[in-house]
Amino acid sequence: MSARRLPDRLTPSAQAVDPATLERHFSGGDGLLPLWIAEPYVDLAPGVTAALEARAQAGWFGYETRSPALADSFWAWMGQRHNWDGEGLRSIVSPSIGTSIGVLIEQFTEFGDGVILQPPVFTDFKPSVTSAERTVVRNPLRLTDAGYRMDLDDLELKAAAPTTTAMILCNPHNPVGRVWTDDDLSAVARICARHDVFVIADEIHADLILRPHSFTPFATAADDTGVRWAALHGPIKTFGMAGVCDTLVITDVDEVVRRFESKSSRLHLTRNNVFGLAAFDAAYGTGAPWLDDLLELVDTNAAKLRIGLPDQVRLMDLEGTYLAWLDFRSLGMDVPQLAQWLAAEARLALSPGHWFGREGAGFARITIAAPTDLIEDAIARLHRAVERLA
Ligand SMILES: Cc1ncc(COP(=O)(O)O)c(C=O)c1O
Repeated sequence: MSARRLPDRLTPSAQAVDPATLERHFSGGDGLLPLWIAEPYVDLAPGVTAALEARAQAGWFGYETRSPALADSFWAWMGQRHNWDGEGLRSIVSPSIGTSIGVLIEQFTEFGDGVILQPPVFTDFKPSVTSAERTVVRNPLRLTDAGYRMDLDDLELKAAAPTTTAMILCNPHNPVGRVWTDDDLSAVARICARHDVFVIADEIHADLILRPHSFTPFATAADDTGVRWAALHGPIKTFGMAGVCDTLVITDVDEVVRRFESKSSRLHLTRNNVFGLAAFDAAYGTGAPWLDDLLELVDTNAAKLRIGLPDQVRLMDLEGTYLAWLDFRSLGMDVPQLAQWLAAEARLALSPGHWFGREGAGFARITIAAPTDLIEDAIARLHRAVERLA
């Protein structure tokens, strides 16, 4: 995997290095090492790049029919990598995970209803709920000696409220890096079935699983519980294709298919992007060896962090995703102090933990799908910044 320096590889308009964006979030972009956006900072899968180049060469960018083989390539991939055969399940194309969440909230909850989130969790979930004039119902993860766990008693309590009608589950969990087990997911499915809470399972990080863990689809855990659910998938996070590619909604609930397709058709959400179609197919068809290398790189980089960080900074167990969650609490800084220190002193553009909810205070998220020399550089910057505190 290429070890080229990150800012040279990304285009200047890439969000991770865009000067105006860096200035807005980190005040003082120059010299910052940007590892904050959730995408791989390495050369992308050669099969995908080749497919995009070939598609560009075709010189024809009009309406294109979506091949039914697209869903087949997704299911072949899921079967091979996760032993998930998708029998009896339906798939619907959606332009993005955010679109799917927005449509599902609109279609399966009412104004003012409660939607359960498990903070610290992906920043976009909360605005998806509040901008739809629904209410966030917080079921924070518990930080135990064994790492982050779901608080199932609290979940039962929150799900039982008559106004709570949906939950957004993040599996694997961005940002804490947990890969939920069959036990965890079955418990969620049973609780949500009991209280008729619709589960939106965001599984966009499903392929980013580190050994010895394995991905359990919510679909498997939901089986026979009677819970209503939809799971969100696609190659965009795994292969760094969020700028080009569609995603999928997977479900066994006929009503989801009917209502989603009707909304999609009314708003013309299914306009095919010719590059997206090519990239989707190429990623699932040819991307396995590249992904194996990426996962090895993430593993190596996690090990570097585990042994190389200053004593005052700790890597939380990383089971999945390429987003490492660092614990800075022993530095005793409050939220503004930590954010300022990371940018101004360590010269790192990381995602401060409080972006993911108040439970993230004292933590920060770093993308480690990057050349190892960049991760070593980040570690060295942290050492120098910590030494200056003494
Ligand atoms: C859990 C999760 N869901 C969704 C997204 C974004 O997906 P999209 O850009 O398709 O809305 C991200 C991006 O990091 C994510 O981590």
